[in-house]
Amino acid sequence: MRQSIISRSTWSNRWAFILVTIGSSVGLGNIWKFPYMTGSQGGSAFVLIYLLSILLIGLPLLIAEILIGRRGGGNPVAAMLDTAEESGGSAWWGLVGWAGMIGALLILSYYSVVAGWIVDYLCKALTGFRVETAEAARSSFEALMDNPLRMSLWHTVFLTMTVGVVARGVVSGIEIANKIMMPGLFLILVLLTLWGWKAGDMSAAWHFMFDFRVGEVTPDVILAAVGHAFFSLSLGMGAIMAYGSYLDKKSSIVHTSLWVVAAGTLVGLLAGLAIFSLTFRHGLEPTAGAGLILQTLPLAFSHMPGGGVFSILFFLLVLFAAWTSAISLVEPFVAWLTENQDIRRSVAAWGTWLAVWILGLGVCLSLNRWADYRLFGLNLFDGLDFLTSRIMMPLSGLAIAIFVGWVMRRAAVEEEIQLRGKAFSAWYHVLRTLVPLAIALVFFHALR
Ligand code: PHE
Repeated sequence: MRQSIISRSTWSNRWAFILVTIGSSVGLGNIWKFPYMTGSQGGSAFVLIYLLSILLIGLPLLIAEILIGRRGGGNPVAAMLDTAEESGGSAWWGLVGWAGMIGALLILSYYSVVAGWIVDYLCKALTGFRVETAEAARSSFEALMDNPLRMSLWHTVFLTMTVGVVARGVVSGIEIANKIMMPGLFLILVLLTLWGWKAGDMSAAWHFMFDFRVGEVTPDVILAAVGHAFFSLSLGMGAIMAYGSYLDKKSSIVHTSLWVVAAGTLVGLLAGLAIFSLTFRHGLEPTAGAGLILQTLPLAFSHMPGGGVFSILFFLLVLFAAWTSAISLVEPFVAWLTENQDIRRSVAAWGTWLAVWILGLGVCLSLNRWADYRLFGLNLFDGLDFLTSRIMMPLSGLAIAIFVGWVMRRAAVEEEIQLRGKAFSAWYHVLRTLVPLAIALVFFHALR
């Protein structure tokens, strides 16, 4: 196994790693899921708990996951096995790598379908699409939901774009794609926020997101917020581990993680402010659910001067965000196929494409023709989201915290993290106690 790992690539520099990791983190989670969850989970209460979870659970875990990846220096399965072996841990820990890789592919199968909707709306925006009434906005969204063929077509396009990048390799594919798209994403986001400021109702958006009302904190809100912190930081799914394995030994894991968390969260909050300020400006409801950015926003755009151009920019922004995240969902499995099975990268990548494509077709059908096939009351689309964000991600996160906190030798952890004194103890203690406890509490509450 080691053999093929020796000649592995590394990112060009620390900033490249920070950029690709922000690329993985900022995605549909921040721009599609965050606003509609904030809208439907009581606004500011959700935002506050989300921010707390990012700091107290997300950041320590992000550091731990990068640490395993870099220490093991291989795909998630190899990294888990090697770091476990080094510390005399059981080979069962390899399962965490497996769960991550499989979970990532399951996420990708519905992620690609949703990203396909975005491509559909981008094309609409490019051809001057306008909706005059809420009714028209809803029926155009529903027409897409009722059309499995069209949805599958966009899913195919998006998945091909994603896998095409991964097939090109770590530096010449993934790194370059992020170097082009991420600055574009930041630029568009700043433009949109400024526009939201000028043309939208920023103060209503601000109050909605940041006026904290204790009464709105319910167990469900906590659960949703913690789960979302995992999702938006790409935790527990092998993506961060895989990216971390290409990080050179000199870069500081803690500094890079701080950058990733700060920038990722800022992007999410800005996107939320921009989206809500437009929503409120038009007296629209922020609680529209999964269709929020596809129904509410086109309506707002259609009624604003300059809306046509900004709707193109907006959907381009979401596409970039989704694309760079999807890339990180493919990489763990492709890395495993190339390193552990000696399969050529391009073959591995297109093989993965096929598997995810087929599952994605099922997802497209589960929203219409197969809507009645349900397990525990959930169709395939919702079931995959529930299984991955509510079950697999927290469980993998729990396992990673226990592994780095209790199984890995402390000396190995210290050597890899290059952090001393109080800062190290603070992180280490939080990872060993608070993180597992918090995840376990939230998780068992969810299953009650
Ligand atoms: N963080 C991504 C988003 O917010 C989703 C993701 C989850 C990516 C897990 C990789 C791994 O959209």
